[in-house]
Amino acid sequence: MPREIRAIAAMGLNGELGLNGHLPWKHPEDLELFKAHTQGSIMIMGAQTWRSLPKPLALRDHWILSTGPRESDLAKAQTCAQKERIRFFATKDAVLSALREEPDSRSVFVIGGAQIYKLFEQECSEWIITHFQSSFKADCFFPMDLLNQRLVLSTQECLWPSLEHYKAHLIHYGAKNDGPSTV
Ligand SMILES: NC(=O)c1ccc[n+]([C@@H]2O[C@H](COP(=O)([O-])OP(=O)(O)OC[C@H]3O[C@@H](n4cnc5c(N)ncnc54)[C@H](OP(=O)(O)O)[C@@H]3O)[C@@H](O)[C@H]2O)c1
Repeated sequence: MPREIRAIAAMGLNGELGLNGHLPWKHPEDLELFKAHTQGSIMIMGAQTWRSLPKPLALRDHWILSTGPRESDLAKAQTCAQKERIRFFATKDAVLSALREEPDSRSVFVIGGAQIYKLFEQECSEWIITHFQSSFKADCFFPMDLLNQRLVLSTQECLWPSLEHYKAHLIHYGAKNDGPSTV
């Protein structure tokens, strides 16, 4: 069955995504939004993003791209009560092939980081992005060209108590003009 793949991210004004392996901001409401979207889904991520998680996230499958997982990556996977929820893949093709073999219709999210958003650009039909209207110190940036020519499906201001000094908008982007490919 063809599957839709979506991407979810939060970024600063200049595409800031991360600093020292973590998020550059603290907005619990954005984490709640992430949770609401991804619970029950298969999450595709890069090894650096896996390393940024203190522990596996509940009720979600973690599919991790790595050319060679470290001992600590595997050890963290072992802390998951349902070990089958954590899988490592050496290539994008292996991920796509495994998705085709999945029997159920769970949703699929690419959750980052920058390398993996870029890698799955062609496969993602929708991008759910929190745009913070502020600059941040960062060492990892979203490849902004990925959003060029994408249709804006909806825009909503985030009215969150934690947003004291700047605004944020939640924007859903659709496919590029040439349309998404399905898996
Ligand atoms: N703001 C947000 O929404 C958001 C979301 C996610 C992450 N982040 C932040 O982003 C940062 C991490 O992003 P990142 O771009 O540095 O790293 P990343 O995309 O999470 O992971 C990169 C790693 O993925 C593996 N990889 C990449 N391409 C591959 C391929 N074609 N085949 C197999 N493996 C591949 C490699 O792991 P190996 O070296 O093991 O081979 C590579 O080092 C962190 O600061 C994190 O907190 C922010």
